[in-house]
This record gives sequence, C-alpha cells and structure tokens, in this order.
Amino acid sequence: MCGIVGYIGAEEAAPVLLNGLKRLEYRGYDSAGIAVLGKTGLQVRKAKGILKNLEDKITPEINSALLTGAMGIGHTRWATHGGPSDVNSHPQTDVSGKIAVVHNGIIENYGKLKRQLEGRGAEFRSETDTEVIAHLIDCYYKGDLVQALIEALKRMEGSYALGIIHEDEPDRIIAVRKESPLIIGVGKGENLIASDVPAILEYTREVYYLDDREIAAVYRDRVEFYDAEGQGREKELAHVSWDAAAAEKGGYEHFMLKEIYEQPKALTDTLRARIKTYAVKSINLEEIGFDETWAEARRVVITACGTAWHAGVIGKYAFEHFARIPADAEIASEYRYRNPVFNPKDIFIIISQSGETADTLAAMRMARKSGARIIAISNAVGSTLAREADLVMYTWAGPEIAVASTKAFTTQLMCVYLIALQFGALRGLIKAEELARYIHELEQLGSHTKRILASREAVQRFAALQFNKTKVFFMGRLFDYAVSLESALKLKEVSYTHSEAFAAGELKHGPIALVDSATLVIAICTQTALFDKMESNIKEVKARGAATAVITFEDTAYFDDTADTIFRIPRTADCLSPILSIIPCQLYAYYCSVQRGLDPDKPRNLAKSVTVE
Ligand code: F6R
Repeated sequence: MCGIVGYIGAEEAAPVLLNGLKRLEYRGYDSAGIAVLGKTGLQVRKAKGILKNLEDKITPEINSALLTGAMGIGHTRWATHGGPSDVNSHPQTDVSGKIAVVHNGIIENYGKLKRQLEGRGAEFRSETDTEVIAHLIDCYYKGDLVQALIEALKRMEGSYALGIIHEDEPDRIIAVRKESPLIIGVGKGENLIASDVPAILEYTREVYYLDDREIAAVYRDRVEFYDAEGQGREKELAHVSWDAAAAEKGGYEHFMLKEIYEQPKALTDTLRARIKTYAVKSINLEEIGFDETWAEARRVVITACGTAWHAGVIGKYAFEHFARIPADAEIASEYRYRNPVFNPKDIFIIISQSGETADTLAAMRMARKSGARIIAISNAVGSTLAREADLVMYTWAGPEIAVASTKAFTTQLMCVYLIALQFGALRGLIKAEELARYIHELEQLGSHTKRILASREAVQRFAALQFNKTKVFFMGRLFDYAVSLESALKLKEVSYTHSEAFAAGELKHGPIALVDSATLVIAICTQTALFDKMESNIKEVKARGAATAVITFEDTAYFDDTADTIFRIPRTADCLSPILSIIPCQLYAYYCSVQRGLDPDKPRNLAKSVTVE
C-alpha cells in the first residue's frame, strides 16, 4: 500500500523524509520519491524499486548540499494506475512544476478529468491518476493553495489522502483525506504528516487524526484545520502509545487480522470505479473493453492456484448463473500438464494475487498459444502475469503481507462477479434493471462486511472453545461449497488443524465415515433453496456426535433448532454471499492460530509467492 510522509521544521527535510519512508517499507511498495522545497525552489527526486535506489540517487546531493530545504513530502508507491516506473512514482507535479502532490487512494473519474485537462492544454507525463490532481489544483490556483484544493476536491471522485506543497507557499504543507488515513504529527518547532503512525514515531507521539474531507494547513509552528467549505475548525490532539511493532500493524496484533479488517475498504475500492451511475447503474470495465465480439465466446476457463483457485470455483458458478455459459475452474498446476482441449472462442481468466505464481503463469502461457482471449485478475501492477496477459483487471486490495490470503480473495471475487454480470448483460440475459439490483447488492457488501467484523468477538469466543478440535470439516452446497474449500484451507494454513471441505451432498458417499464426537462441522448455509437439504446434512453429522456450527443469513431462523452455534451474516443475493460468509471463517482460522500460540502471519512451510514449482 502506498505510504505518505511530510515534514516542515528546522531540519533538512530530505533525510527526515527518507527515514519516514523507511518506516513505511513494511507495507510493500514498488517505487519511491520525495519533493523538497528550499532556496533553489521545488526539487523532485524519484526512483523505481526499493527505497535504496532513491537513497543512492539523493545521498550525494544531500551531502553536497544540492538538495536542501526544510520542508517536503515523500511517498512509497504501490502501483494502481500505470506500472512501477520513475515517471509514475510520486510526487507528481503540475505543468509549471510548482505544485507537488503525493497521493494514497484512487481517483475514480481521473480518465474524464484527464481528458478535460488535456483539452485545456495540460500535458501529462505519467499514467497516474495522481498527476490529474496536480494539474487540477493548478487550474484553480490564484495564490491560495487551500482554496485551490477546495475547488479541485469538488471535482474529484474516489478516495484520497494527499500531501501537497506549492513553490509559492514555502511555509506550509497542505493535507486532506477521504477514506484513506492521514495523520498530522506535532513536534517542537516542526510538524509532520503521514499515512501511518510508524513514519512519525521517532519525532513525536502527539497527533491529530484527520477526519474525512478535513483539510489541514501544516506550518512549522502550528496546524490550521478547515472543513470542505473552507470554514476553520478546532481539533483535539491525541497521544499515540503504540510501540513501533504495533504501529506497523495499525494497532492490530497481526497483519492477517489487519488485512481481514481492510476488506470493507478493499471491496469498495475494487468496485466503485467500475460502476457507472446515469439513469440506472451499470458496469464499466474499461480495462477489458467488452464489445459484441465477446458474446461469441463458447466457454470460460478460469485457472489459478490455492485461494485464487477457490475464487475461480466461485467464478465458475457465477458465470453459469449470470451468463449461462459453460465455465470450468482449473487448478493451474494440474492444467499445465494435461492435454486440454482448447478453442479460440474460449475466454481464459487467470487469477493470481501476486501475478508471479509459476504454475499459474505456465497455464496462462499454454492458453495463450491456443489463441484464446486472456483476462488476468491480479493485485500486482507490473507483475509478470499483468505484463503477459492481453487484458488485466486489478484487485485494488493493496499489498497483502500476511502469507494467508484474505482481502485478495474477496476482491478477486468482486472482480469475478463484475465480469460475469457484465457478460450476462452482454448476452442479453440480465436486463438493465436486474443488473442495477445486483450492483446495489455489490455496493452493500462493504458495509455488510463491516457489520460482520463488528461481531468478531463471537467468533473469538467460539475459537477459544473449539481450537483444540483435531478434525474440522466445512460443508456446503454450490457457492457455499466453494467457500468451504477456502475456509478449510485458511484453517489448515494458519492453525495446522486437519480441516477438509465437503460438498454436503457427498457426505454419505464416504466422508461421513470420518465423523465422530471429536469432529467439528461448520456448515455454510446461504443457498436458500437448499436449506432443507443442509438441515438434513447437519442432523446426520450431529447424530454421529459432531459439534455443529452454521453460518447463515441473519433474517432466517431456519437452523436455530438444528445447529449448536449460529453465526449470522447480513442478507444478500445467495450467489453473492461468499464475500460475506468467508469472513467468519477467516476470523475463525485467525483466532484458532492465536489460541494455539502460532504466528498467523508466517505459517510454517509456506511462502507468500510461489514462484517455483
Ligand atoms: C492461501 C494462499 C495461496 C495462494 C496461492 C496462489 O492463503 O495465499 O493458496 O492463493 O499460492 O497465489 P497467487 O494468488 O499469488 O497466485
């Protein structure tokens, strides 16, 4: 995820900025940059790759006093719009080079704004959405950066945390945020801005937490706050008591928990820019550029590994459901060694968080040779997968640091649903009003996940009672079966519990022989038409002594008399439920790991990115 730091005070800014950026390295990034304002004006330095590249570039200039100035802003970038490169790194500047901007978040209407600004003569150098902000502020600048920002913000849609400086205003840094965190650190004769606490801990523990749409003008000796209309306001200073390790995890005990909690935002970020709101809402997948020729497709083949394959299994069901097209979900490590039958009218969807998984890349290269169209779904801009696929749809989840995938999975699902729905619409199977209803449901998922997370203590208590179970089975039907697969994998990975997933209808064909009083069975029950079938399955395992838990919608009492424990999730369309029903299972796996005294972020024998066979 991108990181922001800013400094204004009596020290040389460049070393302070570098130091702050180092404290944000743990978040993952692909390039970095700083802008320093001093006697020689605004100076911007950027470098692709690790921070050391930037450090090597600027250290000689710092040592020979060529890069001087007591205020500046810095950034570590995780690419979203435009791959990692020097030119796409932040800070981004306007045409005159007087305004420098660092940005976390996504400007959803940047394409439209860019076209308008180009019409007025602005020349863009990067592919970023951030450069639009610099040009836009310049359009409104009449000697007051705060006023110009207020006008620019009125035209920007999306999420942002911004640090901005202007060569003509050498006494202040302007900061603002919406749906992306930003804090102001208050020191003695110096102040800082940062996206995260670790960047400022060395300098101060006194902070202001900016509210949504609140603007701060940060001077060396004071901070002024304004609302979105420019009215002044007062704020209370807060004290940070976290140590550096806790600060990196945003106060959460582990990255896995932090990332589970980031899902409402990640889901909203992944969805929002892809929805068009005119008279009725529709889906706009510019990156894929669907046209009528896509309707000729005969089959969708999804290939991936591990968690990403589970997203593919849900994708298979979604394509059948929404687009009535044959769909397969293939494990990439198997697929690459098979002798599959290809058709140039196939569409291949390759899912990979890292975009570097060796088996997934091999399967993609095989599919390519067949002449089929390839869509990649990835979380890593500039990854091998993203570079080699014809078309790429990014999950805007931000970097996943914990080895076990959580927010990447749910955002992969969001992408898969959007493609399947759009495909259904293209084939004339989903009418505009129905599509708008599904979009409405998708838009609710962010707040629904927040509600599930708010009741995490129920899962924590359950894990405290059950974590020692030696056999845990997840079962479900249709979409719930796919969620069972992912839930069992999560529990295996982080708690080393023997867990398996079963299609509930398969129980009596064998797996039920394993069920005894040492077994916990977690049934995922969101396919409303199959509630009675699931109820029978739960009764069957109970009769053999298993403890049972059910995950179902909050508006049904269907399983109240059957299951020992019930976890409730908000109601959504049955076919979209995996994004919600997986959350209690992720939390369960996490808490079992903690109860067993393990480190959920670094499970034994596992690597985050499997770049070898
Ligand atoms: C499980 C997990 C793995 C990955 C798999 C594919 O929590 O993270 O199963 O999903 O190794 O990785 P990517 O998506 O990077 O191709």
